Amino acid sequence: MTQNISAPAVPRHVAIIMDGNGRWAQSRGLSRSAGHRAGAENVHVIVSECRRLGIAHLTLYAFSSENWNRPKAEIGVLFSLLLEFLRRELPLMQEKGIRLSVLGDVDGMPLPQRTALRHAMQTTAGGRDMVLNLAINYGARAEIVNAVRACLHDGLKPEDVTEDTVAARLYTAGQPDPDLVIRTSGELRLSNYLLFQCAYSELYFTPVQWPDFGVEALHAALTDYAGRSRRFGKTQEQINGR
Ligand code: IPE
Ligand code: IPE
Ligand code: MG
Repeated sequence: MTQNISAPAVPRHVAIIMDGNGRWAQSRGLSRSAGHRAGAENVHVIVSECRRLGIAHLTLYAFSSENWNRPKAEIGVLFSLLLEFLRRELPLMQEKGIRLSVLGDVDGMPLPQRTALRHAMQTTAGGRDMVLNLAINYGARAEIVNAVRACLHDGLKPEDVTEDTVAARLYTAGQPDPDLVIRTSGELRLSNYLLFQCAYSELYFTPVQWPDFGVEALHAALTDYAGRSRRFGKTQEQINGR
């Protein structure tokens, strides 16, 4: 897990917490479902723009393990929007060289979504231009615990359980850590998202609700990121080479 000191203008990995669909809808007198639909449609906009900008890894938080606490009907809407999204976006992902990957417990999802996700992952496996990670049925603490368990299962000795051997057993194995984490809707928390991988990520919070987070809002986040000084424990003088 070596990391570059200077923040390149374009991050390699952007991770987004797509929050605020409900409030977006409420403020327009619409149902929460309408908010989730608008949010799902916005995913296309942001994926396309990240791909165009050359962001190699994009991770989107679509459903947390805690989201099972929501009303059954709302969970049903979210999972049916996932199917629609996969059906609609799969040809585009193939065309644009986007590889789909899922972070989370696929086996714990309903059968149609499991099948559609596996199919989409297989179909896009050859994509070389961008990795789109969908965090679905995802929780960071469970991910870390499972990675440590996998170390034990693989027969690693205590001294061989290291940051690298644990990282190699996370859902994001082989991918760089997020450089930038964006959360929409004004909430200032991580909600069990990528807790291991985000140890040194730059955080960006915006009051914009997810369905309104378009290309301009993304550019604003990236401009803010480009102005950050990533020190990784060093002093600013060391980084300036003084
Ligand atoms: C994000 O929007 C979508 C999911 C968490 C699945 P919310 O549904 O959380 O919207 P708010 O936070 O209620 O506005
Ligand atoms: C986080 O949003 C999960 C996703 C965006 C999928 P929530 O709206 O569920 O987060 P909390 O519970 O308010 O922290
Ligand atoms: Mg929310």
